[in-house]
Amino acid sequence: MTAHYGARSDTDLTVTLRTFLTALRDKDLSDKITFHTEDSSKMAFDIERFVDLSKAVETSDLDWDYIKRVGVTKVEARILRYMADVESHTIIYLRDILSGHTAGDPEITQFMACWVYEETHHGRALDRFLTACGYPPESGRYTKVLSNMGWQEHLEAFLTTSLPKLTPHFAATHMSWGAVDEMMAASAYTMLAYYTKNEELSKLLLRMAKDERRHQSFYYHQAEKRLAHPLAQAICATAMRVFWNPVGVGVGEENTLGLIGALLYDDERGREELGRMDRLMAKLPGLGWFQRASVEVGKAIEMFRSTEPDVARELDKSKGDTDRLRADRLRNPEFALTSAN
Ligand SMILES: [Fe+2]
Ligand SMILES: [Fe+2]
Repeated sequence: MTAHYGARSDTDLTVTLRTFLTALRDKDLSDKITFHTEDSSKMAFDIERFVDLSKAVETSDLDWDYIKRVGVTKVEARILRYMADVESHTIIYLRDILSGHTAGDPEITQFMACWVYEETHHGRALDRFLTACGYPPESGRYTKVLSNMGWQEHLEAFLTTSLPKLTPHFAATHMSWGAVDEMMAASAYTMLAYYTKNEELSKLLLRMAKDERRHQSFYYHQAEKRLAHPLAQAICATAMRVFWNPVGVGVGEENTLGLIGALLYDDERGREELGRMDRLMAKLPGLGWFQRASVEVGKAIEMFRSTEPDVARELDKSKGDTDRLRADRLRNPEFALTSAN
């Protein structure tokens, strides 16, 4: 089953770019923004709490004999490999984000120190899980994935390390980008936890989803605060319209986002979940138009279905069986797709 997904219009792009250029010309848009506003006390408290709670995801109490015995399907292994690759490359995103004015903000740097630690452990936990199931990472995987990054990722890296040096208002873009990526990670882990037959995998995925919601909360509140300024809104709207892609595109194996979409989001519940994420992002100042999660995941699903029709057919069949088996899981509050915001 596929849905109709729209595309970004040229008119939208023109309007956004015009707003951006107008804002750049505005002489009042100096770099006088102060991040230590009245909200800072609340945010400082949140940061303290985040740092206090930060830890590596627990895996020692998982039943590893059960994990080896039950294993995962080939499709699940492919999805988990994609997720592990993305998690393991968080350090690269950290390099990009800690550039220019963004690195000068103590709230952000404290968060990032814990964030990259937690994400790296997500990658390690997934690698350990896949190894136990007979799908260990190939040697030199990290370097291989890094060398496979496409021109778009390199362009984005160039822009995200260069533009933030020009204005502190670019930080709002980093924060909004992070908010939607964390939102999608939390959602995908929860959806896969619902789907899989391996109950220990569900346990691990739900733990990681909880971490992702904490990350989402930080990014989202930072974005909300920083998007108050019109230049921040203009830069962010342009970046999100022109450059944003769902988390992992360009890092994880090609087409796997479409496979994840076909398995987890290509039905009524999945589309509602994408819409929920879009609506949450659209509440941010200047992003009222946001529907990018639905649009981009929709496009990835269509691409996957047209390039891997046999895998797609198998996947639809297994999904039908799973839906019947898992109906009771929906009543478990642990599988609720709750938002941190
Ligand atoms: Fe993560
Ligand atoms: Fe995260």
